[in-house]
Parts: sequence; C-alpha cells; structure tokens
Amino acid sequence: MAAPTAPLRGYGDMNMQTIDPRRFRSVMGAFPTGVAIVATEWKRELFGATINSLTSVSLTPCMLLFCTNEGSATGAAIRKRGMFSVNILGQHQSELSARFTGKHRNRFEDLAVAFSADGLPLLEGAAAQLCCRVTTIHKAGDHDIILGEVLSGQEAACDPLVFHKGAYGIFQRAFGQKW
Ligand SMILES: Cc1cc2nc3c(=O)[nH]c(=O)nc-3n(C[C@H](O)[C@H](O)[C@H](O)COP(=O)(O)O)c2cc1C
Repeated sequence: MAAPTAPLRGYGDMNMQTIDPRRFRSVMGAFPTGVAIVATEWKRELFGATINSLTSVSLTPCMLLFCTNEGSATGAAIRKRGMFSVNILGQHQSELSARFTGKHRNRFEDLAVAFSADGLPLLEGAAAQLCCRVTTIHKAGDHDIILGEVLSGQEAACDPLVFHKGAYGIFQRAFGQKW
C-alpha cells in the first residue's frame, strides 16, 4: 500500500482546515447506528428525544454516554432530574423514532409507557431498556456529552432499528457467526 504523501495535521497546526458541518454530517452518515429514545420525568412532565449518539463507555462501573444538542428540551430535563432511561428501538419502531424527533405536541400521547422504580418512562415494545444516573456532563461544541452510570437494563428478543445515511433500515446478520 502506498504511504501517505502529506503529514497528518495535528492540534498544534494553526493553519489546520476544518471540514464543513454539512459534509461532516454526510460523511458520518456512513457509520450505521442503532436508534434510541432517551427519556425522563421532571416536575410531572415526560420528556423524550430520539438519539443515535449512544455509546457504551465502561464496564466497571457500567457507564454509557449520549450527546445532546444544547437546545434540547429533553437534555435540559435530564440535566435537572439527574436520571434518564434509554429505550433502544426495535425494527418495528421507526414511527416512534420520527415522533420523538418531530413537532408532535405530546410525544408520549397514546403510547404504552411503563415506569421504572425511580419513575423513569420506559417505552413498551423497545428492543432494550436501561435506567441511568447522570454522573458527568461535558460541553463539546454545540452539544453536551451526558455520561450516565447504568443502574438496570433489560432486553427483548427483537431485531434493532438501524439508521444509515439519513434512512432507517434493518439489521441483517452476515456471516452466521457471532463475534
Ligand atoms: C435518527 C436520529 C438520531 C438523532 N440523534 C440525536 C442525537 O444523538 N443527539 C441530539 O441532540 N439529537 C439527535 N437527533 C435529533 C433530536 O431527536 C431532535 O432534535 C429532537 O427534536 C430533540 O427533542 P427535544 O428538544 O425535546 O429534546 C436525532 C434525530 C434522529 C431522527
């Protein structure tokens, strides 16, 4: 394989060029993800938003993170409550994903919602559900990185909803082998 012709640019390079945000968004769309709804309850109101920035972080203790836009009403409620649920969507739930990103007046209206022991909303029919306690919030550009310690988790026998290049899809096992 041919060696790179130019040195990689580093943090210290004042002439460093940055990628256009729209291009960055498009390029990152090449990375397929699952889809989840993060949710919480604050002052008797339910909040929930669709995310795909979910990542597991640590096993001891069990931690995960997601990123939330600084204008997110759900992110603000999660910061105030200090706890949140993560509802990982199944392949049959793309309409739910659209509802929790759109202008629906009450996103929880007519949905089957259960509540954790801590009163966190859990969307029934999800592929998996986790309950978390906020441990740290880092500012990162126009988003907050919310780190949570995972208190509980459960999963269902259900294939996941997938998001790739701005479109929903389904997961297809390729090689008949598990990692
Ligand atoms: C597939 C998908 C993934 C998304 N991922 C994120 C995300 O990781 N972080 C984020 O802040 N917004 C994400 N959004 C956008 C939010 O769902 C959207 O801004 C939502 O309206 C926020 O609601 P809120 O203001 O009630 O919090 C995503 C939207 C879609 C459709």
